[in-house]
Amino acid sequence: MESRTIKSFKLRGTRITTAQGAARDRLWKQFGIELSNQVIDFPALFPGAKKFALEIGFGMGEATLEIAEQNPELGILAIDVHQPGIGKLLAVIEEAQLSNVRVMDADAHAVLQQMIEDGSVDALHLFFPDPWPKTRHHKRRIVNPEFIELLARKMKTHGELHIATDWEPYAQWIEEQFGKVRTFSGGKIERPAWRPLTRFEGQGLRKNHVVTDFLYIRN
Ligand SMILES: C[S@@+](CC[C@H](N)C(=O)[O-])C[C@H]1O[C@@H](n2cnc3c(N)ncnc32)[C@H](O)[C@@H]1O
Repeated sequence: MESRTIKSFKLRGTRITTAQGAARDRLWKQFGIELSNQVIDFPALFPGAKKFALEIGFGMGEATLEIAEQNPELGILAIDVHQPGIGKLLAVIEEAQLSNVRVMDADAHAVLQQMIEDGSVDALHLFFPDPWPKTRHHKRRIVNPEFIELLARKMKTHGELHIATDWEPYAQWIEEQFGKVRTFSGGKIERPAWRPLTRFEGQGLRKNHVVTDFLYIRN
């Protein structure tokens, strides 16, 4: 597949703290995975795991930490390009002694295309993807038929794709995009009790945004 020129993220003013930078320098070798053309061997990466999940856009990693702690048999590959969050999550992995999380600093499209075997992912977490509210930015929205088909290819049959958004027009958009593909069944659900509150979600709730959760199952 051609490399994407339109990005679904904007590298925000990356004010990485001293602690986050130090954590990155010290812990990347241990818990980070470089983008390459080498397919990831999930059982080898997470020897104790029974299931494998990808979290795309983990932000500051709050959900990653809590889900990893609650599910020691779930191996989580957490992907983002947000430098403060990468430093923070590495620090948290060490502090909480998590053996079931690895971190990637890369565009999720490239990771999926180059490093994830087809039919190998049990669960996918996409919590509060950038909503790109302006019409001229809609092409940046990560949820689109091409991306959904990429996820479908990488997921196991009956694999679970969880999405949450606090932007109602994006919720409507997500439903429309899934309406165009035949690889997933599902739609809106109640907020899953296990889904942790993230910083981004908290900010949305303080602005009285309505949060919508989706669950799509790979057919
Ligand atoms: C709005 S934030 C939400 C972060 C977090 N999930 C939360 O709920 O707080 C969206 C995140 O997705 C990341 N992101 C967007 N597109 C991405 C991509 N193609 N690959 C990796 N990360 C991406 C951004 O860098 C950002 O950190």
